Amino acid sequence: MRPARPALVYKSDPVRGRTWREVFAAEAPDVDFREWPDVGDVDAVEYLVAWTPPEDFATRFPKLRAVFSTGAGVDQFDLASFPEHVALVRMVEPGIAAGMVEYATLAVLAMHRDLPDYIERQRTATWSEIPLVPAGERRVGVMGLGVLGATVLERLAGFGFELGGWSRSARVLPGVRCWAGADGLAEFLARTDVLVCLLPLTPDTRGLLDAARLAQLPPGARLVNVARGAVVDTAALLAALDSGRLHSAMLDVTDPEPLPPEHPLWRHPRVLITPHVASMTRPRTAALAVLANVRRDRAGLPLLDRVDRARGY
Ligand code: OXD
Repeated sequence: MRPARPALVYKSDPVRGRTWREVFAAEAPDVDFREWPDVGDVDAVEYLVAWTPPEDFATRFPKLRAVFSTGAGVDQFDLASFPEHVALVRMVEPGIAAGMVEYATLAVLAMHRDLPDYIERQRTATWSEIPLVPAGERRVGVMGLGVLGATVLERLAGFGFELGGWSRSARVLPGVRCWAGADGLAEFLARTDVLVCLLPLTPDTRGLLDAARLAQLPPGARLVNVARGAVVDTAALLAALDSGRLHSAMLDVTDPEPLPPEHPLWRHPRVLITPHVASMTRPRTAALAVLANVRRDRAGLPLLDRVDRARGY
């Protein structure tokens, strides 16, 4: 018998937790919202919201049906030992997409308009210009065509870039030339002047952008990484930047992370770094997205945005 009023345990940032509590109080009196560590009667707990769940979550909450990640990524979970009977759900909510569109636009334009060179010229009080390349002559390519990648491409379309996309399995996006799988990767990279990495970190994508793959980009290409640092081989990235083969990079994620103060990436003249802030889950819209999914589950419908363990995301 399932409880008439299921409990949802929130185990994450307590400040954001206040908004989650308000949303559930206003919108879902039929769901018992509890905040870690005050979990109450464990038999009523069907849902857990966490970035990292407690190690013993499956035994601690015997009736658990789903764990909702508080972030878009799920690489912090050990999928190999994640219990089969519990669904793992990625955070898909409009706030994350809006933040990612802002950051990706900022970064693509910074790369397109040579911002690292101009920052360096300002540092040396050098008034000199770089010939302008029209957007229509710049080929932007996004790796990872899930909700975030597709939304970023849709919004970049307004600038007139030639848009391309690559994903593990074939996708069709309006106005975007798409490539898929291992077979399509070399051709996609060879036509990409500004590469935006939005891939999830999985065993297949770890180190995917290594020396050989970076060398497939056109000379003078630019890289934006807003996914996970470990998708890019850091030593290969530095070598490609040093040789000038890669013109510049804007990195919101690095490997390692946080980037140690002595790391050469910090001081590279053609690298812009931000500390993993491209996009953040917004508590109000996230709580509403989780609630909508809880309601689906209560109605006997399949949960949306479930992680496929075989794919790893
Ligand atoms: C996330 C992130 O996964 O912030 O949400 O990287």
